[in-house]
Amino acid sequence: VRRVAVLTSGGDAPGMNAAIRAVVRTATHHGIEVVGVRRGFSGLHRGDMRLIGARDVANIIQRGGTILLTARSHTWRTPEGRARGAQYLRDWGVDGLIVIGGDGSFHGGHFLQQEHGIPVVGLPGTIDNDLYGTDHTIGYFTAVETALDAVDKLRDTGASHERIFVIEVMGRHAGHIALDVAVAGGAEEVFIPEDPKPVDGIVEIVQESVSKGKASSIIIVAEGFPGGALGVAQAIEAGTGLETRVSILGHIQRGGTPVSSDRVLASRLGEAAVYALMDGHSDVMVGRQNGEIGFTPLPETWEKRKDVNRDLYRCAKTLSV
Ligand code: F6P
Repeated sequence: VRRVAVLTSGGDAPGMNAAIRAVVRTATHHGIEVVGVRRGFSGLHRGDMRLIGARDVANIIQRGGTILLTARSHTWRTPEGRARGAQYLRDWGVDGLIVIGGDGSFHGGHFLQQEHGIPVVGLPGTIDNDLYGTDHTIGYFTAVETALDAVDKLRDTGASHERIFVIEVMGRHAGHIALDVAVAGGAEEVFIPEDPKPVDGIVEIVQESVSKGKASSIIIVAEGFPGGALGVAQAIEAGTGLETRVSILGHIQRGGTPVSSDRVLASRLGEAAVYALMDGHSDVMVGRQNGEIGFTPLPETWEKRKDVNRDLYRCAKTLSV
């Protein structure tokens, strides 16, 4: 392997820069050149790429976002778009591509490998933590801290006004962020897509908590739960008549300085991705499970579902008594 390319794709996640840095530094250490592709697959099929060296990734380990920029590409979903991208990689003499992103990005990398034989290694970069084959994804820890900080602040105002706060956190199809934030934020109840229970049950929960003397409540809803926070809040107001406010945290959860756990994970996985290409691996994601680095075939990362921690889900319920 003499030259590898790296790109970030899909929703950005704090720690992506730390991963880019680790890829570039590991490659440099082994005399391998790195081509940085800008704007993900969207930039790849336009040939938007340049060589990047160890000094280009100085002072980025602490920065949120991605210096390579990112995008969700529609053209890449067509065979013609992928063929153009593959040609650019061949023109640049690239021996393998490292894709930092989530399941959509891994689909893109998988098809590139299948159709054009270009070795592809994936790095799990998404705040949603919804990829099978790794206990955590890069960006997840920071997103949880950011959401938790917001929940703590909303609790102050909620308690002062004796209101119910329904807070929606990100997670398109997954409740990992919601569950961690609910337990760490001492929430009354949590709604996750993995358990699409009817929302009317919340009316009884809130009424019960009022009768137990709780004047305010925090309820966490994952974005992917049917009806979202607005649906849950409507059910509460209609069923209890209590003053309820909704706060949808949104993209703030994707920004900010990555916490140490994300930087360390990104550094370990970025290094491992380069070694994976050097060792001839392809069409796999590099992940960390129980502290060990391992590989999962790219299609398995989205075909197999990573469940939420059911013990934690049970614990959330117990502690809200
Ligand atoms: O996949 C990460 C994520 O932040 C999801 O939680 C969310 O549903 C989605 O991206 C939002 O995407 P966009 O930035 O394109 O609106």
